[in-house]
Amino acid sequence: LQEDTIIVVLGASGDLAKKKTYPALFNLHRLQLLPKNTSIVGYARTKMDEPTFHGKISEHLKNVDSGEGKKAKEDFLKLCTYVPGAYDQDDAFAKLNKEMEKIESGAKNPNRVFYMALPPNVFTVVAAGLKKNCYLEKGNNRIIIEKPFGKDLESSREMMGKLKDLWKEEETFRIDHYLGKEMVKNLLVMRFGNPIIDAGLNNKLVDNVQITFKEPFGTEGRGGYFDEFGIIRDIQQNHLSQVLSLISMERPKSFSAEHIRDEKVKVLKTVPAIEAKDVLLGQYAAHGDKPGYKDDDTVPKDSNCPTFAALTLFVNNERWKGVPFILKAGKALDEAKVEIRIQYKDIEGGLFEDAQRNELVIRIQPNEAVYIKLNAKTPGLHMGTLPADLDLTYKERFEDARIPEAYEALILDALNGDHSNFVRDDELDVSWKIFTPILHAIDEGKIKPESYPYGSRGPENLNDFIAKYGFKRSNEGYVWPKTSVQ
Ligand code: BG6
Repeated sequence: LQEDTIIVVLGASGDLAKKKTYPALFNLHRLQLLPKNTSIVGYARTKMDEPTFHGKISEHLKNVDSGEGKKAKEDFLKLCTYVPGAYDQDDAFAKLNKEMEKIESGAKNPNRVFYMALPPNVFTVVAAGLKKNCYLEKGNNRIIIEKPFGKDLESSREMMGKLKDLWKEEETFRIDHYLGKEMVKNLLVMRFGNPIIDAGLNNKLVDNVQITFKEPFGTEGRGGYFDEFGIIRDIQQNHLSQVLSLISMERPKSFSAEHIRDEKVKVLKTVPAIEAKDVLLGQYAAHGDKPGYKDDDTVPKDSNCPTFAALTLFVNNERWKGVPFILKAGKALDEAKVEIRIQYKDIEGGLFEDAQRNELVIRIQPNEAVYIKLNAKTPGLHMGTLPADLDLTYKERFEDARIPEAYEALILDALNGDHSNFVRDDELDVSWKIFTPILHAIDEGKIKPESYPYGSRGPENLNDFIAKYGFKRSNEGYVWPKTSVQ
């Protein structure tokens, strides 16, 4: 870790900063993982004094009401200052630079990390302002940015191109916060640390793969933003396609950032653009006291924006050819859950009539777990089969382990200069290539979402859609015992 680091949080008064960035920085501080002599400078347009700012960033800090937590919070707030300023004026950035120089006086090797918790429309202008006015000639400069990285291949290239003119690839950290999640990071270990698992991940054994993201709430409050993007740009193009590449990629030469990302890019290059026949869209409608998507005043009444999508992708290489990867994501559904479900083929040879298919399930959240569904002999004198499971539920197996927030892991990596869990420019490009044609077709209204009630499993045709790709539901009666544990 680099001593004498200033972390500048741009957009410090916004939601992302308040809910994610500052709480993550606080937890790192509490775990004594921030570099020695770290200062955190908040920057945003809103004028406010320091106590007001401290009040704002304290709102989402956890366990800070008494004892050690309270003391940690007080110490943390001493590191946090605030500079108000515009996003498009050199003077304002020059003032920010002065503040930083004051903090750095006496530091031998100062470092600056710029965390952009900003809306996309000010993104490039801020990146330019920072480069011009706040860039350290001697020392490390890093910029952390977050999606949306454009809306399609072309706009992403344009935006990334502008950024590249200013900030070098090794200075740029593109966040996909799913890459900071414990169970997503676990995928490399699960696969390449366990021959028993990886040897079965191929088209000889696997029938179909589902990667599912479910949220039980709608877009209340951010409908205006969401309508421009839709669920595919919000979840599938980034979070789920990252999971797809990690579950399908080949063994990297090493766990170095470049080797891992080389393999991810390689596998995504084998995935053709999604075709309209492999798409099912949904949009939630009012149900009970819950509003429909279009009841939001900021959403156009004729919006064609999907809040649910199931998309089937194919990885056309020797290992995976013919195996459908179904990426499902939806808002306002019946539960909160993110998981990967690998379903194996039927047992051949006609020995069993009532055996279910094996499944390997990696539950990313909540209640992190890896479990394998398998068949066991019915215990006792009778010769029958019974569905059962091998279960690695984290809370039970690693009782005292604390699972860090994604943003904690990622900010720490960025401070360490480790790019492994950040999105490389060519990764972004290949991913947009897969999604852009279908996104354009939806934007042009060529594919329409089916309506589904708030709080349901999604559009009515979902079961048929999944069945079309070979997925078979478990026999009646089998439920993973911890399905509903939060
Ligand atoms: C964000 C999306 O990237 O991820 C949100 O923009 C979504 O719409 C969020 O709610 C989900 O993140 P998590 O960590 O709660 O699964």
